[in-house]
Amino acid sequence: MKLLVCGGFGTGKTTLKERLLKEAGGGGAAAAADGGHYETVDVSIEPFRLKSRDYLLVDTPGNDRYTRSLTGGAAGSDVAVLVVDVNSGVTVQTKRHALIASLLGIPHIVLAVNKMDDASYSKKAFQEVVRSFEKFADAFDFSSVNAVPVSARQGDNIGTLSDAMSWFEGTALIDYLEATELEHDRAGRPLRIAALNPNGGPSRTFSGTVATGIARPGAAVVVAVPARTSRLAAIAIDGKPVEEALPGQAVTFELADEVEAGDGDIIAAADNRPEVSDQFAAHVIWTGEHDLLPGRPYDLMIGGRKVGAAVTEIKHKIDIETFEHLAAKTLEGNDVGFCNIAVDKPIAFDPFETNRETGVFMLVERETGTQVATGLIWFGLRRATNIHWQALDVNKAARGNLKGQKPVVLWFTGLSGSGKSTVANLVEKKLHSEGRHTYTLDGDNVRHGLNKDLGFTDADRVENIRRVAEVSRLFADAGEIVLVSFISPFRSERRLARDLLEDGEFIEVYVDTPIEVCQQRDPKGLYKKVAEGKIKNFTGIDSPYEAPEEPEIHLDTTKGTPEELADEIIAALRSRGVVAQ
Ligand code: ADX
Repeated sequence: MKLLVCGGFGTGKTTLKERLLKEAGGGGAAAAADGGHYETVDVSIEPFRLKSRDYLLVDTPGNDRYTRSLTGGAAGSDVAVLVVDVNSGVTVQTKRHALIASLLGIPHIVLAVNKMDDASYSKKAFQEVVRSFEKFADAFDFSSVNAVPVSARQGDNIGTLSDAMSWFEGTALIDYLEATELEHDRAGRPLRIAALNPNGGPSRTFSGTVATGIARPGAAVVVAVPARTSRLAAIAIDGKPVEEALPGQAVTFELADEVEAGDGDIIAAADNRPEVSDQFAAHVIWTGEHDLLPGRPYDLMIGGRKVGAAVTEIKHKIDIETFEHLAAKTLEGNDVGFCNIAVDKPIAFDPFETNRETGVFMLVERETGTQVATGLIWFGLRRATNIHWQALDVNKAARGNLKGQKPVVLWFTGLSGSGKSTVANLVEKKLHSEGRHTYTLDGDNVRHGLNKDLGFTDADRVENIRRVAEVSRLFADAGEIVLVSFISPFRSERRLARDLLEDGEFIEVYVDTPIEVCQQRDPKGLYKKVAEGKIKNFTGIDSPYEAPEEPEIHLDTTKGTPEELADEIIAALRSRGVVAQ
């Protein structure tokens, strides 16, 4: 049984945990299948044994900032023990933990009302806490919710019922645990193996871990993403052939046919297949230090697979006090939201409700590699599989050839007033006079039309650049030399624009002008307004600018006239073969 213990700072959670382990001491700590005591990021997992079975106790720091470890370690728990201090009662933390327990599908809740010794073992005090907990716990469909008044320090009602609270009609905490039946039966679910393909390419031999179900030789299976059917020909554990492999076991296996399966692809029961889609709806528990920005590319990790992903829409976020659904443009640390997510390759998954192992994913920040969210898939969005790329006979290369040029995107980035538009304008004039086919997308202009619904918050800037990146891709596809002139302050979205194009087609031009110089030039009088406090979120002042690390072209505008800088770009285009020498 996997037991999650959670509680805010000062609730006595650690004392309670130690007390539980001490009570178990008689039976001796069990050698759990996963080995002894171990720690992951911020979670500790401790095996112990009570009278009737083995337990894994998952402990997470109470601190708010650590919801991440909570979601990481807690998935798959059978019981959540929520520790509250009888004197402070139900807190926002308790509510957050209950909400997350409910999202994670933990069926049983035990409310441990602690520090009863500090409240004169008062029945009334206990009942008040229970009443306020029940009021909101009703909103969730836990299989059972029980409350026990305890003193972790004195040991009251932990291992045995306490004389000090003879009014309590229930059983001691440990007896609750022992009497709880397990609902989460991984072996009883349809077969899912997360495959690894050490050789790459088409193969018969794979390794992997059984996530759910029982793997047996002869079973009809499907490799989920390419939807190739085959049979399990042989299974081995530690190099020895076996007749069955259970959830959690690492296996090597052979299929009857050679198939193309990538790392993390799911091998599933042929008659009970996972969903395959590149769009789905999910609950997202956001734990990132920075806010979630819809449209920004993140890495999504699911069962050993890594794909690019973006939140395309936040449907709502959940108010932690009232559990109401609120409209939201972004999620901050500890927010829980319901979102649509798009990934850049189809993935196989099950709704979290039907399979906890294959329905859970992580979002990771690309720049730093840190986890920023845990996601629980609710359902696949079927429309994803019904939209196909239309292959056109007249393609980008054909259009470029007709125009005698190689389509590219010249992406000018830099502070407001750095000279992006001035230089871009000169470059376009020069190309045009040579008979080249060009088009310019300029921030100030596009924001009057296509993007007039967007302002200057981080979230809006991400969406601004995402749309412009897509439009610049279309223009490049039309065979044009596209000049894009936007501040585009974030590396992530400039990379998104780069990734939409083929190698060599994206030319990043960093228009490098110190902010003091921009302030001095102030062509639109905006820096003056900023100084007067009339504009907020201004790039370089109170909104960040992330300078390019390796731009294809780096222009120092203090060292040359716009004319000279434009010539520098034209020369670079010639040497790259974009236009003829
Ligand atoms: S971006 O950050 O989303 O790439 P974009 O290039 O479209 O910005 O728009 C920048 C232009 O909007 C600036 O040149 C300036 O004229 C105007 N502007 C108005 N408010 C702001 C602001 N808060 N920050 C930056 N630019 C602003």
